Amino acid sequence: MLENVQGRNIVLGVSGGIAAYKSVELCRRLVDAGAYVAPIMTEDAHRFIGPVTLSALASEPVHTSLWDDASPIPHTRLGQNADVIVVAPATARVIAAYAMGLSHDVLVATLIATRAPVVLCPAMHTEMWEHPSVQHNIEILRSRGVIIVEPQSGRLAGGDIGTGRLADTDSIASAIDSALAASHDLAGLSVLVTAGGTREPIDAVRVIANRSSGKQGYAIAENAARRGATVTLVTTIDRPTFASITVIPVETADDMLHAVTCHSDSSDVIVMSAAVADFRPVLRSAGKIKKADGVPEIVLEKTPDILAGLGARKREGQILVGFAAETDDLLVHAQDKLVRKNLDLIVANDVSAEGVGFSHDTNAVTILGASGVLQTVALTDKHHIAAAVLDSVVELRSNHSPHK
Ligand code: CTP
Repeated sequence: MLENVQGRNIVLGVSGGIAAYKSVELCRRLVDAGAYVAPIMTEDAHRFIGPVTLSALASEPVHTSLWDDASPIPHTRLGQNADVIVVAPATARVIAAYAMGLSHDVLVATLIATRAPVVLCPAMHTEMWEHPSVQHNIEILRSRGVIIVEPQSGRLAGGDIGTGRLADTDSIASAIDSALAASHDLAGLSVLVTAGGTREPIDAVRVIANRSSGKQGYAIAENAARRGATVTLVTTIDRPTFASITVIPVETADDMLHAVTCHSDSSDVIVMSAAVADFRPVLRSAGKIKKADGVPEIVLEKTPDILAGLGARKREGQILVGFAAETDDLLVHAQDKLVRKNLDLIVANDVSAEGVGFSHDTNAVTILGASGVLQTVALTDKHHIAAAVLDSVVELRSNHSPHK
């Protein structure tokens, strides 16, 4: 029944409510289905179940504190390695702290330190569940993409009857399974991504460069890896990234062309987010040009258009994604590039807008396909843009699927 759980890393957060005992059964169910379960308990959860119980059933000992853990930074390790985080039960306090970003315990810190999907299973008394503050926090989290498994109606602590009972284990397990299925939608695909601006040498020390930081390309590569793809990243920027990503460092447009050409035939999806220099000096001086020799005249020539070359020899089923950094007539230029370079998708951004494009952590884009605008993403973190771009890729693939 749980088809997507095998071999996946699940963080199971347990907070302090009477339903904490039900997390034991959930833990066992996930481990039996082949998941690697890392449990976290809040301090209050200890009042309901003993940590030894979860430690004995889970795949590693329970984490209870930011400070007394075997790892010096348990929340980032847990958050970064998780394929999904489930909190069952989630109390009003944990829900509020998560909505506000108050990382004062290991559970909430881990929730804030993750980009994995989160499944939140509230459990509390009816009056608390229906309180406007709790409902407001739930809506905040839902709007951020957190999956809420609604509490059920039934017998509560103290003999009361009403809504607030933790959802049954089957419902929680199947929400986790669906979250994992959705989050692994690029499994089995090879994705090639380019990142950063190329540097074209003038002499032994000087280059023509551009402002690209590579952040958007790295975010796309990492999002693809998280979604199960085999990722190759051709980049001019040296940044730490996932060990599972094959990184090919390059410098010039020619280097990038060579690296991309080597991998393009075996790639199912190619995302050219690099800012490839359009021009380079015709001659590169082997030594350093000295000032004493006067002001040099640098003659430029066009670089090869890597993306246009890929478009010209695109194979059946391959998806080609380009970027269009523009300052005027964004959609007209983007649409023109989409057609001219034979692309499936183009991600257009107005680099003259505040907070958009080069070197920022944020971006705002319009994604276009053959039929026109597919989605517009307002100013947000580059990781969210990356997810939106790959969502469009997945949608395109499913539209082209022969089973449809
Ligand atoms: N690109 C490329 N090779 C180049 C130049 C650009 O592969 N030599 C790719 C970029 O990675 C990007 C897309 O083409 O995905 C759009 O690049 P851009 O420079 O904006 O488009 P151009 O066709 O060069 O048009 P213009 O300079 O007129 O805007």
